[in-house]
This record gives sequence, structure tokens and C-alpha cells, in this order.
Amino acid sequence: MTRPELAVVVLAAGKGVRMKTALPKVLHAAAGTPLLGHVLATSEHLGDAVGAGPRIVVIGAGRETVGPWLTATAPAAIQVVQDPPRGTGDALKVASAAFGAASQVLVLSGDVPLLKAETLKLLVGALERPSPAAVAFLTAKVPDPGEYGRVVRDGSGEVLQIVEAKDATEAERQIDEINAGVYVFDRDFLDRALPLLTAANAQGEYYLTDLVGIAVAERRRVVGVEVADAQEVLGVNSRRDLAEVDAVLRRRAADAALDAGATLFRPETITLADTVVVEPDAILEPFTTLTGVTRVGTGARIGQGSVIADSAIGARAQVRPYCVIDRAVVGEGAVVGPFARLREGTELGPDVHVGNFVETKKARLARGAKANHLTYLGDVVIGERTNVGAGTITCNYDGFEKHLTRIGAGVFVGSDVQLVAPVSIGDGAIIGAGTTVTKDVPADSLALSRTPQTVVPEGGAAYRRRRQAAKDAKQKGS
Ligand code: UD1
Ligand code: MG
Repeated sequence: MTRPELAVVVLAAGKGVRMKTALPKVLHAAAGTPLLGHVLATSEHLGDAVGAGPRIVVIGAGRETVGPWLTATAPAAIQVVQDPPRGTGDALKVASAAFGAASQVLVLSGDVPLLKAETLKLLVGALERPSPAAVAFLTAKVPDPGEYGRVVRDGSGEVLQIVEAKDATEAERQIDEINAGVYVFDRDFLDRALPLLTAANAQGEYYLTDLVGIAVAERRRVVGVEVADAQEVLGVNSRRDLAEVDAVLRRRAADAALDAGATLFRPETITLADTVVVEPDAILEPFTTLTGVTRVGTGARIGQGSVIADSAIGARAQVRPYCVIDRAVVGEGAVVGPFARLREGTELGPDVHVGNFVETKKARLARGAKANHLTYLGDVVIGERTNVGAGTITCNYDGFEKHLTRIGAGVFVGSDVQLVAPVSIGDGAIIGAGTTVTKDVPADSLALSRTPQTVVPEGGAAYRRRRQAAKDAKQKGS
């Protein structure tokens, strides 16, 4: 049986006033991913349980930032603009232009990021069974209902309406069942009811929640589905909420990594985006942050305080404490840090060593190459087993353009060498310490550029006597 087509609408046009923020609320990150990213990921996990239909995101406040972020992250999503934001009901009205042929409409809030796809599947089921309903929505019982909308039921437990906290009577405010802001509607009902919404309420906004009262007045079936775990429907309206959601998401990701066979020391301090894969026997030390499309291979160890984004860490690699790694590949058994910075386009082959205070960018180091101390390697290709000495700098930028440095295999680069790109060093060459390389160096040759050294016998002692005498004379005078 083909499923009825379902449109998914994510509401993300609100200002987020209570966050006191310049950054749009839905782009605030929890566990390394923006809130909106979590909601979109959940909607993707719905899979075949619901019929395919358009995915629509309503943007408005801060859309100059949210729009491009969406285009990059979810290019298939339809962006519709609500300007000005006149309430959640108005947002859904604006989205309705993009419903297409969908016969069901799932509405999610961009600020409710903990929801699980399983719960949404239950909700969609409740719209259809035992008999078709106009709307099904998620509710939760919470000890402190605060600013959430309250679910008003009659004596037999049937939903009558949702009342916003600001419009509620004292008695209604006592209700501990809240509206989670997650709904699925019958399309025909929506088409009829959306034009009926008014802004006659305390906030002067079009409330999506009024659709529930309208359905009841039309004697249509309305289902409030209470979630088993109230935490799942936590909405982020303040920085406190954000901190709480962040902790829950990090704990979930840490548990998944532990279950997959990784060791996490002090997991409560670790941030793992849900896009991160940690293989069995990997070890994550305290205060590590792994985000984006990142993979940590089996047996690899990530040292304390390291920050890794969009990178692949090979099996058995050692990332020592306090490394920053972004868009890089670290080969099997490689050793990095402590205090190394691997930037975009870094590719370390197997068993490469990159030590403390080394920065790399667009640097390819082949198997067994080493750069252990105080070095900048930018726009460079380095062959197998080559050793790069302390203080080596690839001078890759001439003030206008970047240039490439090529270093062959088995090369020895002495300490404090500058390689002025573009330049090539052949296999097996030796570069003497302190050399400024401006011309290509052939294989197996020795390159050396040094000012001849002068030695004055007893010159040091004579200098010291002269300066001391001058100082003594000055002190006597004062
Ligand atoms: C809403 C519900 C409330 C529920 C709560 C759950 C309404 C009227 N109230 O309140 O019953 O308990 O969610 O979290 O719906 N948005 C727009 N356009 C707008 C206004 C908001 O797109 O004009 C978006 C926001 O970006 C946000 C979502 O809709 O993602 C919810 O808006 P918000 O202002 O947070 O509503 P709540 O006060 O939380
Ligand atoms: Mg909210």
C-alpha cells in the first residue's frame, strides 16, 4: 500500500527574543550542531514510515544567515519566507503554498531538537487510526509548565483546545499537560481552517494552536498523544534551555559511542555531534570535541582538549592533547601533537609524526614522514620518510598568490630552513640547518646557504669587560 503523501514543515522564522541573541535562535548549536540541524535530521530518519512529500522550512527573522545555512546543509528543502513573523499559525499559512499534493502535513518546530523519529511515526499513526482525525499533536506532562501552551481536556479526557500561557486563566495555568509544538494535520482540514485563524489574543499573533479548537468546534477527531519521556519535547526558548538540551544530546551521543565499544573518559565533558562515528576500541579523553562528518578509527586515541571537525582519524592513530584538526585526514598509526594544528586539506599518511606547535594546511605527508617541532607546512607535498627539522617554514605566500613546495622521499631538512615556494627538493637531498631555499634542489644533493661565521678569540670576554666598566662608571656618577 502506498502511503499518503506527507509534507514536513519546520517552523524557524521566529525572533527568539528570550534568547537575547543576534544569532538566529535555530542556528544556536547543541552538541556541535545547530538546533535546526537536529530537527532536519529527525525528519530525515522518518524514512519509509511516511509517504514522501516536500520538506519545507519557514524562515524569517535572521533569514540572511539561516537561508544560506539551509542551502548548504539541506539543499533539497524548500525555503519559504515569513516576513514579518506574525505567529506560528501565520508561518504555517505561508508554508501552505508549498504543500503540493501532500494529503498530510507534519509540523515541527525548529527549536524542539530532542524529538525522536520513532515518536513522530507514532504521531502520524495516531492521525490515521482508529479513525481519521483532523489533527494529532504531541503533549507532555511536566512539573513546571511555565510558558508552554496548556492542553485543555473535558471530563472524559477529550481535547478541547490549547491555551497559550499568556492567555490562560489561573485555573488553566494549573494544567500540567503541555503542547509540545509538534503536530500532524489532515491536509483538507488545514486548507479550510488556516484562513479562519485570527490574531485576537494576548500576543496579537496568529496561533497555530487555535487550529485544535477549530477542529473540535467542527466536531472532527483531535488526538493529543502524550510522550513517554517529557524531555524529548523540550523547547529551546532561553539560554538555560539550550544548555539543558546540549547536555542531553551530548549524553545521548556519548552513550551511543560507549555502546559501540569506544572508551570515553569523563563522558560528561565530551562533545560528539551525532554525525560523528567512533569505532570500537577508540579512546576519547576528557574535554574532546568532535563535530561534523568525523570518523575516529578503531584503536585511535584522541587526547584531552582536542577539537576535531570534519576529519578522518585512522586506526591506531594517536592525537595527543590539545590539537585542533579541521577538514584533515590522519593516517593509520600516525602521531599528532600535543598542540598541533592541522588545517583544511591536510593529509597525513600512515605512521606520519607531526609534533608540537606544527601547523599544516593543504599539506600531504607520505608514509613515515616527520615534522616534530615548531613548523609551518602550507601548500606542500612531502615524500615518504622525509624528516623536517624544527623551525622549518614553507614560505607559500608572496603577498598575492599561494605557491607549492615539493619535497621528495627520504629528504633531510635541517632546522630553521625556509623554503621559498615555488620550489622542489629531490629525493634523498639534504638541506643544511638555517638554509633559505630559493632554487630547486636536485636529488641526493646538499643545499646550504649560510653567512660565513666569524670567531674573534677572547672577543666575548673583552666585550663583557668593556660593558661592565661602563656600567660601573655610570653608577658611581649617580
Ligand atoms: C509554541 C506553542 C506552544 C507550545 C510551544 C512548544 C504557539 C502559539 N504556541 O510556543 O503552545 O507549548 O511552542 O515549544 O504555537 N515561529 C515562526 N514564525 C512565527 C513565530 C514562531 O516560524 O511567527 C517558529 C519559531 O522560530 C519556533 C517555533 O515557531 O521555531 C515556535 O515559536 P515560539 O515563539 O518558540 O513559540 P512558543 O512560545 O515556544
Ligand atoms: Mg518555542
